[in-house]
Amino acid sequence: MHHFEIKNNELHAENISITELAAEYGTPLYVYSAATLRRHFQAFDSAFTGLDHMTCYSVKANSNLSVLKLLAEMGAGMDIVSGGELFRALKAGVPANKIVFSGVGKKAYEIAEALKADILMFNVESVGEMHRINEVAESMNKVARISFRINPDVDPKTHPYISTGMKKNKFGLDMETAKEAYKTAKDLSHVSPIGMDCHIGSQLTTIEPFLEALGKLLAFRDQLGEMGIEIEHLDLGGGLGITYDEEEPPHPKEFGEALSQALTGKGLKVILEPGRVIAGNAGILIGEVIYTKKTPTKDFLIVDAAMNDLIRPSLYQSYHRISEVVQNNRPEIDYDIVGPICESSDFLAKDRVLPEIKQGELIAVYSAGAYGFTMSSNYNSRLRAAEIIVDGDDVIVARRRETYEDLLKLES
Ligand code: LLP
Repeated sequence: MHHFEIKNNELHAENISITELAAEYGTPLYVYSAATLRRHFQAFDSAFTGLDHMTCYSVKANSNLSVLKLLAEMGAGMDIVSGGELFRALKAGVPANKIVFSGVGKKAYEIAEALKADILMFNVESVGEMHRINEVAESMNKVARISFRINPDVDPKTHPYISTGMKKNKFGLDMETAKEAYKTAKDLSHVSPIGMDCHIGSQLTTIEPFLEALGKLLAFRDQLGEMGIEIEHLDLGGGLGITYDEEEPPHPKEFGEALSQALTGKGLKVILEPGRVIAGNAGILIGEVIYTKKTPTKDFLIVDAAMNDLIRPSLYQSYHRISEVVQNNRPEIDYDIVGPICESSDFLAKDRVLPEIKQGELIAVYSAGAYGFTMSSNYNSRLRAAEIIVDGDDVIVARRRETYEDLLKLES
């Protein structure tokens, strides 16, 4: 459920008309709905109320400071993967003891920054990283709380680029290696193994792979217990999918119930790292049709939102629903919707049937709130889009549009 609706034949974000927003702030424009973000966070978090748990929103999905602040105000913790994300989370007011640090390649300075902030836990992905954290912590006279990310070898049945918990992936440690790593960690002076972690992939549309991974982790925890290693925290990562097209992922409530059932009475503090399910359908991308173009084989809508703004269709062949912003009764046309970038991979949709849309009119690309702006770039020296948050009748400029000066700011 989201708050992007047609009222009087026109798309609105909460109480504000998209046409007005585009006129005021220009296009391409990311528009987020505060009510939707709150609702999604609430729906997800409340699905786990029966458990001692913490919802650590995955910053990479949408890291805009105002978005982080809104979620922090609702009590969200954060899952970070870089010093930059730590900086953002702290700036947004997230308490350090609600921050977990994931990622396969943490550098020494990032580890030091996180130790200085005193975050809850590092999710460690290699033996080398464990030693690096131990060294950095020793130099700072601190003890780092760690968990190892376990690669449970489960097929999440999602796009290969966003599958992470299979043997062939770069992520985590297989259980045999992890067992040795826990043993070593126990004897190291400046790390304290207190948790177990896994994240098997993103945009999962069934619960089974989660339960399969969880089963393996719980069995592994018992083995660790026999070795005298007590695991207090279990981080299950993110990955719950959303509806882009006709997918029917489980509702967070159903997801929460299934996991809670498996976890009740286990005495674990559970951490969840949802990203997409919170932000994905809380944002849309607005573009204006610069030209329409008819070739012998195709009808093109050439719009000012391109692969540098939203790379998901080009990178993962992913589907995003697209509609006109002002409804009309014109006959339908089978369009390729493309941007101005000099690549044939620059498209938002192919063979998309829409009522005729004319030059100067607006389109909305749905489900763009997660991995939209955060994956954007300046390719072709295009200026990054502005980001707006609508909250009822209010509008916040969460990030202003870039200028040509911004483009050259760091260059000499
Ligand atoms: N935790 C970890 C350790 C992760 O690597 C990720 C996502 C998440 C949590 C959040 O997963 P979510 O709940 O959003 O599925 N750019 C891709 C998605 C990459 C996901 C990377 N890791 C896309 O646009 O589909």
